[in-house]
Amino acid sequence: MINVAIMGFGNIGSGTWDVIEGNGERLLERLGDKVNVKTILDVRTFPDHPASDRMESDFRVIEEDPEIDIVVETMGGTTPAYDFVKRCLLAGKHVVTSNKALVAAHGTELIAIAKEKSRSFLFEASVGGGIPIIRTISNAFSTEAISGISGILNGTTNFILTKMDEEGASFASALAEAQRLGYAEQNPEADVEGHDTCRKTAILASLMCKKEVNYEEIYTEGITAVEDLDFSYAKQMKASIKLLGSARLEDGRLFAYVCPMLISSEHILYSVKGVYNGVLVESNMLGKSMLFGSGAGKLPTAGAVVADIQDIAADLTANRPLGWGKETMPVEEMEKSSHRYFVRFGGSDQEYIDHCLRVFGKSVLYRVEGADEFGILTGFMREKDFLAVLEGMKDCIKFLRADL
Ligand code: HSE
Repeated sequence: MINVAIMGFGNIGSGTWDVIEGNGERLLERLGDKVNVKTILDVRTFPDHPASDRMESDFRVIEEDPEIDIVVETMGGTTPAYDFVKRCLLAGKHVVTSNKALVAAHGTELIAIAKEKSRSFLFEASVGGGIPIIRTISNAFSTEAISGISGILNGTTNFILTKMDEEGASFASALAEAQRLGYAEQNPEADVEGHDTCRKTAILASLMCKKEVNYEEIYTEGITAVEDLDFSYAKQMKASIKLLGSARLEDGRLFAYVCPMLISSEHILYSVKGVYNGVLVESNMLGKSMLFGSGAGKLPTAGAVVADIQDIAADLTANRPLGWGKETMPVEEMEKSSHRYFVRFGGSDQEYIDHCLRVFGKSVLYRVEGADEFGILTGFMREKDFLAVLEGMKDCIKFLRADL
């Protein structure tokens, strides 16, 4: 019998129970041993749940139970998750987590403790929900040199942007629908401000570099300023707007950022719509490859948690060498990156339009019928140079970076 404890019985925690129950026979067949949820930690009681007989509110019961082999952390946040997870590893237990905030903030230390203790700290469900991206990067790509990972890593914002693009919805109404359908939290800040994507990008970048990438160094911009008019322009460019998390190695330097970007209909990630996630990996032998699937949701995410449990349960004495070392990899400043830029200016004065086209060099003009404004798509420029040109210009409404 392999004994598991679940800390946090919310969406993903209770989903983990459901997957272990629903796929218990498959697990037994694969492992030759039964996976048993022995204890569930939560401040709430769930009297009508079939697992009500194993609810516990005192963490020490799990920490001090020598029979518990694997602890699943699905509490979210870093307090008390960090303290509890660290203590579980120090007590000689394996830990599986879906918590990107925990992995991004404390992954380096927790990975190191797991190694010292010959235990595992696995976090497949922390990025891309049910998509096996971490396992793929760590195992299937282990002989590849990965030069870039970019993706649509947040289902809530992708749902909102798809609604705005395809149905002409406003940001506010698309967000309200996402909340009604249970995709977005009542406080959607972590999703719409890009913090969730930032942490996932930091985890993927750390795996790519095999060094710690500090999420606080990653330039992060959310989608709250994206408007329906932006999509009107995007359509003229045969493009859409997606919240991208991107990490790229160029000559040994790491560029990483999170921001809404114009991407063309030819782009591999263009077809990733609704609540789905897609992760594009670029590596030296395989070239470009994309993983696509349910990036959020109870059962897909819990499925990834249970896949980690299964990996660990195959040999409870081993450390799965997954993650990165203690060395840090600095992120280059955003102004050193290069993109094309789409800039919107107020007004319709032809002389000013001509001036704008001139100052950005090789650039293209876009107009939306009936709007007293115009847009300019620049060529590929260093962000520092672009901002220097923009600084002296009046009537700039906004700009978006573009991968066209
Ligand atoms: N809030 C996240 C999303 C959940 O919408 O993608 C998965 O991390």
